Parts: sequence; C-alpha cells; structure tokens
Amino acid sequence: MFVSKNLDVNEKGNLTIGGIDTTELAKEYGTPLYVMDEDLIRSNARSFKDSIDRFYNGNGLVCYASKAFACKEMYRVIASEGLGVDVVSGGELYTAISAGTDPEKICMHGNNKTYDELKMAIEYGVGRIVADNIYEMNALNALCAETGKKANILLRIKPGVDAHTHNFIRTGQIDSKFGFALETGEAFEAVKFALECDNLNFVGLHCHIGSQILDTQGFEAAAEVMMTFIKKLRDELDANVRDLNLGGGFGIKYTEADDPLPYEAFMEAVSIVVHKFCQENDIPLPFILIEPGRSIAAPAGITLYTVGGKKIIPDIRTYVSVDGGMCDNPRYILYQSEYDAVVANKAALPKNTTVTIAGKCCESGDLIGENMPLQECEPGDIIAVCATGAYNYSMSSNYNRLLKPAVVFVKNGKSRIAVRRETLEDIVRNDV
Ligand code: LLP
Repeated sequence: MFVSKNLDVNEKGNLTIGGIDTTELAKEYGTPLYVMDEDLIRSNARSFKDSIDRFYNGNGLVCYASKAFACKEMYRVIASEGLGVDVVSGGELYTAISAGTDPEKICMHGNNKTYDELKMAIEYGVGRIVADNIYEMNALNALCAETGKKANILLRIKPGVDAHTHNFIRTGQIDSKFGFALETGEAFEAVKFALECDNLNFVGLHCHIGSQILDTQGFEAAAEVMMTFIKKLRDELDANVRDLNLGGGFGIKYTEADDPLPYEAFMEAVSIVVHKFCQENDIPLPFILIEPGRSIAAPAGITLYTVGGKKIIPDIRTYVSVDGGMCDNPRYILYQSEYDAVVANKAALPKNTTVTIAGKCCESGDLIGENMPLQECEPGDIIAVCATGAYNYSMSSNYNRLLKPAVVFVKNGKSRIAVRRETLEDIVRNDV
C-alpha cells in the first residue's frame, strides 16, 4: 500500500511512521517536518553490513554516503551500527567528527577538495582519502611532508560504464568531472604518480557509476573493469591494490513504478564477478568498500506539510499548495523526480483525485510533483511525501529566506528532535 515498509495506517485512519501517528508529529513539531525512522535506517545499514559478511567473509567496510542525509544524530546511529562514512566536504567531515565518528572509518571524497579540507583530513587522521586529480595528490603530498604524516589514498577511476539513470547523477562515464579515465591511460599514469609520492600510501581504487540504479549490470560491469585494471597494475607496475571501493548508487522504490532489487542482490551479483576474477587471475581478494547513501536514508524518511490554498483550473489541473517546496525538496525541480504522497489524516481513504503539489517559493517550477494521485484534501490537511530521507534535507536551501524544517527521529513509539527548526534569528545570523 505504501512505498516504504515503515508506513502504515492506524485505527484513526492516520498515517503512521515507525508506529507513530504522523498527524501527532505535525501537531507537536509543526510543518514542514522531516521525519526519520531510526529502525529502518538501522536495518538498511545492517543489510549492507551483513552482505559484506556474507559475500566477502567480513573483509570489507560499508561507508554510509553521508551526502544523502547528514546531521550529528545520523552519524551517531551509523557509527553505532559499525559502519564507516563517506564525506565529501569539510562540513560533513566536521559534523562526523563532532558526532564521534572514528576517523579511521572515514573515506574522504571530492573532485576539488580545498587545501583546508585536505589539511583537516590529515589532522583528523582520516583513514582513506580518495584522490581525484594530480593537483590534489601534489597538495596532499606536500601537506604530509609538512606534518610528518602519511596519507592513505585511493584513486577515483572512471570505469567508463554507462549507468541507466538521470544524466545529472551519472558519474562513471568518461565525460565526467570526477576521477581519472582508464581509456586514455590517465588512470594508469595517476597510479604511477601516486606510487612515486613519498608521503602518500597508495592503498586502492575507487569508482562510483551513478545513483538510483535499479539493475545490477552496471555494477557488475564496473567491478569487472576495476578488477582488470587491478590486474594490469600488478602485471605492469607490480603494484598491490589493497582496497577496492565500489561506490554507492543502489536504487530504491519512490513510486509503485519502481521495482528495485533487494540490496543483497546487488551485493551478491558484484561479489560473484570479483571472486571469479580473483580466482582466475590469482589475485588476492581486495578489501571491499561500498558507499550506499540513498538506499540507507531515503526509505526511512518522510516529509510532512500542511495544505494551504487549492487552485482548481478546470480541464487543466488542480494545484494543492503546501508550506514547503523546492527549499526542502529540490529534487523535482532538479531531476523531475517522482514521489508518492498521502494525505496523512485521510490515509485510509482511496486516492481518488490527481493533483499537482506546489511549494510556496516564488518560482513556477517549485513543485513536489505533478499529477500525483492523492486523497481529496482541504486546507489544514497534512500531506506526507514518502521516501524523502535522502537528498532532501541535505540539499535544502534558504531560497526566499524560508526557514529549514526540523528533523525528528522516531524509534520505539517515541520521537526526538535531531535538528531544530530554523528561526528568523538564524536567517539573519550571518548578515552584517
Ligand atoms: N559515493 C560517491 C562517490 C558518490 O558520489 C555518491 C553519490 C555516493 C557514494 C552515494 O550514492 P547513493 O547510494 O546515494 O546513490 N542528489 C542526487 C544524488 C546525487 C548522488 C551523488 N553521489 C539525487 O537527489 O538523486
């Protein structure tokens, strides 16, 4: 009935998340409100971790891609499940460390890490830095020389694999700002360069082919390409690749039209490729890292809005306006992403209308979705948009000086604030 398994309807006909009445949450904390179900975050995290145990005999690490959803409480939950994290900026790194994340389990990304960010990573003792270009390797090497430390680096490789996903979230093809290309020999030269840097420990390779990928072929192809490159490095440079980081990108169910595979299926398909290649080529099994972001956070979250005005344009469409929009969920305006929505206080009723849910920003494209099936709704009703736990809060903005919503975690029938709602004071805090 719902796209995420943590959603249900109670005896009052209201939508629940993790067993809690969402209309009560809206009353207590106000709207718009992000709600994250801690148990589902944990069980998603565990299913990836269990797959590493099952398919690689525990010889690996799941690093949650925190760009999907980051706040201190999320880093704490992730750490308590034994996962590491992928960070991509000084801000994510700082938040992770502030929440007590073990720096050894942090993987630092970015195609243009600043000098200050690299310095922070070295000072905190980040376990793995994924180098994206030669300029960065030079900067890191120099920084390490100054501080007398050595950095463990992986090189980001473009495997040249075309993932079947939206153009803006594909990253593995040659025309991408991320990483070193294989086809041109750039990646091979980059490894040679890394091996020559006195203060860098070349420990491995990384690739990430894209996001919201719903089949296994792209992942299998990327694994094959990466293993072939590992063999080439062994044969031609006598280089040992300790770590193979295969990135994230596992797709989830946003609407009934999506039919994602269980996470284990992605993991198993790739592990077959890796094991077979290692056996056939007498290569030791690398330490495997994966970086799921969306698949851990998205299904666990919903966003609650209050309905305001409704505009019926005969024979064209009905707009239902809510008290948030592209500021808290920019995914429609960016990628025309589709979501499932429910009127939380009428969740047991059939969805017998089709509406366009509009946000409150001064922008015509500010929509949560077009032509969405929904229960009849009136001003004051609460709309829940499902599977918004990833790339919503983390991509939110203050456009039109709207205040960022609060984030609430629910667990065991209780709710707690993880991020406070912004205030008008916050909006002018840095204005001079
Ligand atoms: N690792 C790397 C190096 C990445 O660049 C990403 C995502 C991930 C892991 C996690 O991918 P995931 O498992 O979440 O698919 N804002 C877009 C998604 C951008 C993804 C960027 N990189 C969206 O809202 O769909």
